[in-house]
Amino acid sequence: MLVLGLESSCDETAAALYEDGLILSSRIRSQVDLHSQYGGVVPEIASRAHLEAVDLVCAEALKEAGLSLSCLDGLAVTQGPGLVGALLVAVNFAKGLALATGLPLTGVNHVKAHALSPFMARPGQAVPQPRFPLVALVVSGGHTNLYRLDDYLAFSPLGSTRDDAAGEAFDKTAKLMGLGYPGGRVIEEMAAAGDPRAFELSRPLLRQGLDFSFSGLKTQVLTIYQSRNMAGLPRDDKELKDLAASFQAAVVEVLASKLEAACHLIGARGLVLAGGVAANGALRRAAGQVAEALGLDFFTPPLAWCADNAAMIAALGARQLAQGQGLMALDAEALPRWPVA
Ligand code: KG4
Ligand code: ZN
Repeated sequence: MLVLGLESSCDETAAALYEDGLILSSRIRSQVDLHSQYGGVVPEIASRAHLEAVDLVCAEALKEAGLSLSCLDGLAVTQGPGLVGALLVAVNFAKGLALATGLPLTGVNHVKAHALSPFMARPGQAVPQPRFPLVALVVSGGHTNLYRLDDYLAFSPLGSTRDDAAGEAFDKTAKLMGLGYPGGRVIEEMAAAGDPRAFELSRPLLRQGLDFSFSGLKTQVLTIYQSRNMAGLPRDDKELKDLAASFQAAVVEVLASKLEAACHLIGARGLVLAGGVAANGALRRAAGQVAEALGLDFFTPPLAWCADNAAMIAALGARQLAQGQGLMALDAEALPRWPVA
């Protein structure tokens, strides 16, 4: 089933074509440059930029695959969660396409789509095949969620963050350390040359269930940063790198420990790490070690599929369409808060 996927939930406008596990094309227009001067995503700016880009990425994705709308079997769009004004752009564009072409349209949960992002490949590559049940950790700028998966479409929530998402914690911590936005990659770069034991930071909710809490860590970093007068230090300062490394180590240890606990709890056969923060090398290594120690299959997307993209939306959408699930009526709404049930 050949499916066009569309994504506009946050600050990437994306379109992709997908068929039977394979990504035939994928186009992403990032708005990072527009938002970086504000230190975070500005919803109104995001919506306008999506409006300008959505038809272009769609046309580019079709062109890249050498296909036209008449070749498609279905349409998939991110229905939520995300910024409502941003979501509405691709949702309404997709509805227009559905009306014009008569193709079925399915609404996709963005977080679930991240969880399935390891199970797709480029033509010529093997598509990874999981054995269920799986534990999936989706860590991004907006979400930190642990799930049990008994099948591709059978999700049960195991835990989530009580305050900041892991990526949000990276972003806010980088901002308060004067490192710019988005913060994940720059913290990782700084941490690579720092000592993760230099500063003693707490491990919030470690060995206390499967929920997370990251907002306190950011406050601890701020206290250290201010008490040591670190403002204005050059980026290559050792103490700044040590602080970045200590922060990253705390986040990674908590995430890896909950992954391990969740895998034990459900008797998982495989472990998935996905979402923007899954691009973090220290986290990828830690999650891989958990899987290895427990003898589980480990799945994480290549770096290009960790961040927001429409291939994962088309991939989950294709599975939903095959089961007749999530079909969107023309009056269906975007779901800015859409918990995975
Ligand atoms: O999945 P994503 O592109 O968007 C959301 O759905 O939120 O994730 C973006 C998040 C940002 O918070 C960014 O700082 C974080 O992923 N991120 C990283 C790294 N690369 C991106 N966090 C830690 N280490 C990285 N290397
Ligand atoms: Zn995302």
